[in-house]
Amino acid sequence: MSRLSVAIDGPAGAGKSTVARRVAAELGLTYVDTGAMYRAITWKTLQENKDPEDEASVSRLARDTDLRLTAGKGGVDVWVDGEKVTEAIRTPEVTSQVSRIAGQAGVRKVLTDKQRAMARQGGVVMDGRDIGTQVLPNADVKVFLTASIEERAQRRHLELVRRGFEVNPEQLKEEIRNRDEKDRNREHSPLRPAEDAVHVDTTGLSIEEVVQSILHLCRSRVSGGE
Ligand code: DC
Repeated sequence: MSRLSVAIDGPAGAGKSTVARRVAAELGLTYVDTGAMYRAITWKTLQENKDPEDEASVSRLARDTDLRLTAGKGGVDVWVDGEKVTEAIRTPEVTSQVSRIAGQAGVRKVLTDKQRAMARQGGVVMDGRDIGTQVLPNADVKVFLTASIEERAQRRHLELVRRGFEVNPEQLKEEIRNRDEKDRNREHSPLRPAEDAVHVDTTGLSIEEVVQSILHLCRSRVSGGE
């Protein structure tokens, strides 16, 4: 189990990060939140007042960034050039700009290389949009998590309210719809399930139920059952 690689892809709000973190903890694997990496580069681009559409400048910035993920108290801590940005990368401003950055081939190449290097160090549970298709096409287990747009918007709403942001639920739904559309229709590494991914619709399921079904998949893969 210690070298197992698990890819969890799906749209925003499907529950990927919560589920991936729990599965990693249960199996003693490293959790890699690749969305946090795109957010970190977006945060730095905005921080340095760079034009998010200037692809050459964004990919140079990504290459020159010391980006680290470490195990924190409540989850993963994210560090950009030694500065902790765990909270800063989750603001509505970063969220609204991240698709522009994540759509660029240059930055994707830099982050994909980094993600593969992380996976080479040992077993991982990695979540994102292109893990099963691009980053780890040979992952032992591939899961594609979905949920209805209503449920995803409701989950994001609860999460933002808990963190002190005021948001309009209808506007949130619209933003999720837009981000999905951009992630699905972009030219480079669009969001789509790998052919051999197991689809799990989390609408109406508890976190525990989803975690248990993925653990079952992982264990049966290791024992050669599936
Ligand atoms: O999962 P998240 O909302 O934190 O991801 C932020 C953005 O990054 C999302 O709009 C899609 C993009 N992303 C990506 O293109 N590829 C990944 N592997 C992970 C995230």
